[in-house]
Amino acid sequence: MNIAVPKEIAPGERRVALTPDVAGRLVKAGTSVVVERGAGEAAGFRDQDYTAAGATIAPTAAEAYRAAGIVVKVQRPLAEGTDELALIPEGAALVAFLQPLSDPQYATNLAQHKITGLAMELIPRISRAQSMDALSSQATVAGYKAVLIAADALPKFFPMLMTAAGTIPPAKVLVLGAGVAGLQAIATARRLGAVVTGFDVRAVVKEQVESLGATFLGSPPQDAEGSGGYAKELAADQQRRDQELIATTAAGMDVIITTALIPGRPAPRLITAAAVQNMRPGSVIVDLAAEAGGNCELSEPGSTVVKQGVTIAAPLNLASAMPQHASMLYAKNLLALLTPMIKDGALTLDMNDEITRGVCVTRDGEVVNEAVRSRLQGVSA
Ligand code: NAI
Repeated sequence: MNIAVPKEIAPGERRVALTPDVAGRLVKAGTSVVVERGAGEAAGFRDQDYTAAGATIAPTAAEAYRAAGIVVKVQRPLAEGTDELALIPEGAALVAFLQPLSDPQYATNLAQHKITGLAMELIPRISRAQSMDALSSQATVAGYKAVLIAADALPKFFPMLMTAAGTIPPAKVLVLGAGVAGLQAIATARRLGAVVTGFDVRAVVKEQVESLGATFLGSPPQDAEGSGGYAKELAADQQRRDQELIATTAAGMDVIITTALIPGRPAPRLITAAAVQNMRPGSVIVDLAAEAGGNCELSEPGSTVVKQGVTIAAPLNLASAMPQHASMLYAKNLLALLTPMIKDGALTLDMNDEITRGVCVTRDGEVVNEAVRSRLQGVSA
């Protein structure tokens, strides 16, 4: 069976779905890996690295897709411009971030093309699936990178310095949302020497924040844990109380990094325009929730703006800004997902398995994922 690795063509995407190392492991396991020429270039992987690992290089996208049994990608294939979807052979499987919950119509498209769609964002959050969890691996990259963006934009040092010319106090950093990205941001800011405070609406996070040497904001901690380890949306009065607490705290902060998300919902508004006004000139906000509308009222997704002297960065697709390690982690996630599914050289989907059932969006020309089906019914109702 052929596993195809096309070059990513979504604007700004620098990652690649398979690294030479993982391609080599799949080849050793008995599959053929076909990589489009230059697919790994933006992430620092050369064509010759793939061929050395046993993969074949296809000169064009059409050639890479031609005999694919499984297509692995980071971004879902585009259906406009270059019609990548049309290049995927009928009956093949496609593994990528398919965004089936935010765009269920795309799943219908896949079903019509008779493509078996496996959505990386639907990996269940259970211990057995941790090695496959691409949302987590990419959030780790984003959390780390957010701190570097903040440190670069801040007109101050992060660490405390005692120099002959005087003592520099450490930067104060507030991290809102302490899930995977937030905890990585806390750890990274601590390593750079900042004094860090973390905030989340899930009570279990308090201990994790403190174990990284940060202080937890909010006493007592709230408990808005929903299903699957994710947060629930807050009632309006609680959200207002949190906004007030954050606005007061923001006044003493040099940097705020926001990572708060609720699956399938707009990002919660945590930093109001008034809170930004409270901050000192030169302070920096990095809003990692920009793709879901942003946690800061003044964020402009995809841009960096300066408002009342405060730099507000709202980058999109931050994982792509560190493509080599982001690709390495993503490829390992794919390998962990696909290895148990490939039996005797063919993709075998066991729909009794919780992970397979969770990720499989379309099969045999039908949308099979319950969550996606109910969204589709919601759209057509
Ligand atoms: P996420 O990206 O959906 O959200 C990020 C953070 O924002 C979460 O910690 C959430 O509680 C927080 N948040 C939401 N609304 C907020 C608000 N109004 N104010 C402040 N914070 C708010 O979640 P993420 O980071 O992907 O994962 C959340 C948790 O799921 C992890 O901390 C972990 O416990 C669990 N998890 C479990 C895995 C497994 O068992 N395989 C894998 C990955 C995560």
